[in-house]
Amino acid sequence: MNVLTVLGARPQFVKAAMLSRAFAKAGINETLVHTGQHYDARMSKIFFEELGIPVPEVNLGVGSGTHAEQTGRMMMALEKYLTNHSRPDALLVYGDTNSTLSAALVAAKLQVPLAHVEAGLRSFNRAMPEEINRIVTDRLSQWLFCPSRSAVELLNAEGIAQGVHFTGDVMYDVLLHYRPLARERYPLEKLVPFGRGSYFLLTLHRAENTDYPEQLGQMMALIKSLPLPVAWPMHPRTKERLARFKIAVPSNIHVMEPVGYIAMLALLDGAKAVLTDSGGLQKEAYWSERPCLTLRNETEWLETLENGWNTLVGADMDRVHEALQSPPTEQQKPWYGTGQAAEQITRILLQAD
Ligand code: UD1
Repeated sequence: MNVLTVLGARPQFVKAAMLSRAFAKAGINETLVHTGQHYDARMSKIFFEELGIPVPEVNLGVGSGTHAEQTGRMMMALEKYLTNHSRPDALLVYGDTNSTLSAALVAAKLQVPLAHVEAGLRSFNRAMPEEINRIVTDRLSQWLFCPSRSAVELLNAEGIAQGVHFTGDVMYDVLLHYRPLARERYPLEKLVPFGRGSYFLLTLHRAENTDYPEQLGQMMALIKSLPLPVAWPMHPRTKERLARFKIAVPSNIHVMEPVGYIAMLALLDGAKAVLTDSGGLQKEAYWSERPCLTLRNETEWLETLENGWNTLVGADMDRVHEALQSPPTEQQKPWYGTGQAAEQITRILLQAD
């Protein structure tokens, strides 16, 4: 079986880590195409090297731009690539980025069967570009691989039932595989000037939080009010916005360059709690038994909200301080599978071959 995988943004590299390995093991012939959406070495290259992901056959070099520019350029380049190469049995995409959307549209128009890993997630907030990307991609997919049972239910509620599979979350597979390496490879003193359990870990990059000076300013005020110092591997997008809006970073924040996946697991392991607007980190915090304060008003990862492991705080300082004062008491549950999502996806694709 020949699978063409299209990826381009940091979270997709993480998701690819275990699936590419499972494909190789099962004899599936996978070709990777990198759209070039993320191009800084710290956002891309380090992940391929560290996680042993096969080198992409081609990098389309699309880079940044408005949504239409970025999506359009990707579609043009992908269409050309697909028409000049032998037709794959399936085109596979991950998650909800503009790379996902453009590949889904091109596959559908060229009638290449589409497989969507991380299908069925919804925030019900159409102001998020990722929400539009998910809805369209799910509509166009033949295989919809869902990380949770609630994702299956959400698809069913939209009338999508065929090709829908609950497989568990490939990100859980990846975390289980690499977690044992994190402490060994990255002792905390190599990463931050803080002791174990004495800092918060922050990430912030969503358009809704970074594109508006007032919102970004509010986020900084919120972080400044925290009772512990904060380690912040800063996304290039956020760095650019802070400079453009001339917003100062509060002095309790230790700003870092973006880190690789394994260093991120080590930072998470050492943190008291997490503040983030990332989707992936909400789950990684859950699986690592670290409370998470999500800097948004909705989440696609509903299960993490149970028992207070994750709290939606938006930009509301009172909600942040309330959440910090009521840590979770009960154990997490295995909502996102058993760590064998990659094997399950591989098996299902091979059945169709
Ligand atoms: C994208 C995804 C988001 C995902 C995130 C993870 C979309 C719509 N959004 O957002 O779902 O959670 O990636 O990181 O696809 N930039 C660099 N270097 C890079 C990449 C980006 O400097 O390597 C800067 C540029 O200023 C660029 C900005 O970041 O304009 C935005 O980049 P973009 O490709 O839109 O994606 P993200 O904001 O990273």
